[in-house]
Amino acid sequence: MEQATLLIDAPAVAPAKTDGRANSLTPHSWTHERGAIPTYLEFFAGSGLVAEALRSFFKPLWANDICEKKAAVYSANHGSKHFHLGSIGDVAGSDLPASDMAGASFPCQDLSLAGMIEGIHGARSGLVWQWLRVIDEMPRRPPVPI
Ligand SMILES: C[S@@+](CC[C@H](N)C(=O)[O-])C[C@H]1O[C@@H](n2cnc3c(N)ncnc32)[C@H](O)[C@@H]1O
Repeated sequence: MEQATLLIDAPAVAPAKTDGRANSLTPHSWTHERGAIPTYLEFFAGSGLVAEALRSFFKPLWANDICEKKAAVYSANHGSKHFHLGSIGDVAGSDLPASDMAGASFPCQDLSLAGMIEGIHGARSGLVWQWLRVIDEMPRRPPVPI
């Protein structure tokens, strides 16, 4: 818990406001309460390896992946109530709970030699833009995107 507390207390630099919404890096907008385990949203959660790494430090509030088999592995290890099976293309940011952090291990094939280097606009790696769209749609953006 000590590491998580340091993370939550760490950001001192807030980015410039870009629209009318509250600056999501200001401490008063965080969902985290001192002493409580911080929360996160996980995009492209797959079989739950990131959730496994974070399990002692963060509570998953919401997770998503399109793959049924990986969803079964995720659910067996981390629970199914907060897991939403389906394409990120169908996720609306306005439906997501406020959280302390959002993480996305988006597909990397188009960024590698093995994936023909289609790049960040390739059909698979380009899903990162969907993640950014969803975050942008949230009324209260998570202060920490990873
Ligand atoms: C780099 S892997 C993430 C692996 C994950 N961190 C794990 O522990 O298994 C990318 C993930 O994106 C998922 N994915 C691919 N297209 C998707 C889509 N349209 N919507 C949601 N997830 C998708 C894949 O099923 C895959 O699990």
